[in-house]
Amino acid sequence: MDVAAFRALEPLCWRAPSAHNTQPWRLRYERWAVTVGWDPADTLPAGDPTGRDLRLSLGAFVETCLIVAADAGLRLDWAADHDEPDRRVGRLRPARQPYRTPFRAADVRDRRTHRGRFTGGADAGVVAAVDAVVRRAGGAARVVPAAGRLRALLRTADRQVYAEPAVVAELRRWLRLDRACPRYRTDGLSDRCLGLGRAAATGLRAALAAYPALRPLGLPRLLAAGDDPLARGGSVLALIAPPGLDAAGQVEFGRVLMRTWLTLHRAGLAAHPLSQLVDVAATRDALGTLLDVAPERIVHVARVGRPAAPAPRSARRVERAGGGARTRTAAVRVG
Ligand SMILES: Cc1cc2nc3c(=O)[nH]c(=O)nc-3n(C[C@H](O)[C@H](O)[C@H](O)COP(=O)(O)O)c2cc1C
Repeated sequence: MDVAAFRALEPLCWRAPSAHNTQPWRLRYERWAVTVGWDPADTLPAGDPTGRDLRLSLGAFVETCLIVAADAGLRLDWAADHDEPDRRVGRLRPARQPYRTPFRAADVRDRRTHRGRFTGGADAGVVAAVDAVVRRAGGAARVVPAAGRLRALLRTADRQVYAEPAVVAELRRWLRLDRACPRYRTDGLSDRCLGLGRAAATGLRAALAAYPALRPLGLPRLLAAGDDPLARGGSVLALIAPPGLDAAGQVEFGRVLMRTWLTLHRAGLAAHPLSQLVDVAATRDALGTLLDVAPERIVHVARVGRPAAPAPRSARRVERAGGGARTRTAAVRVG
């Protein structure tokens, strides 16, 4: 394996999506392979206590590495080797052939999460294409019916999330609402990516700063009522995993998640995840009933559709500079 050639591609690999844009992956370069692991400092213990979204994000990163390497002609495959104490999920290693994928580095570069308005949802052809991707991994993709019921579920989930001080504190840590903050350009969720104007961003900052005092007065309810993503159009898709998915299986499913997002991207659509519906047990159970599937098999839910306008590009810690990887913050260890 040409480790040096892969290292030069690393900035593009960092375009992989991650919950709260924490970019939890870490690469350890060895002589013949590259180990993919994670840094606990970039996990979400309050919002993602089971580590489901961490493992989905790591899987999305692995798939992204394979696609980027294949597009550059590098012969690489993936050896899964999940080890919690060693904080690793597996190794990218030499292979006889480049990874077989319909996706290109340009898809990785251009794909974006889109939280804005959609002019339309996923038509039957797109749903079938996404479903085919998930079916190959033993799962399914299903359109969630009943928009009115879904809106109520989303509000319930948001209210519960905002009622948890630890979850709100963690969200605050990853929000980038101040454009002068040095980390605005490296990680987290920016006001632009969240679709917040200056006034809304200032209002949210003030509300979250006053959260301890305002929480008993109903701030969680107010925050939950403040946004209605379903009003911005699109369809809602649930990704259903095969039964009995363990931690290593969740990483594999993260690879599937990435392929579904790239399938949408290729069709001119984008995804806006609504993970709170899966995080909150009551809403996940209700979704299970709506879809007639065991709730624990629902691992991801997203609003999907055709963007009315391009989404802003999210920040990354590692950016391309002269073809090689350049780390933007000293806090990140790469290699
Ligand atoms: C497993 C996973 C869960 C996510 N959950 C949410 C979510 O609940 N709400 C949301 O707005 N974005 C969610 N995202 C999107 C990330 O915030 C987004 O990928 C990140 O900010 C980087 O932006 P990009 O996708 O445009 O590159 C999720 C992403 C992943 C991989």
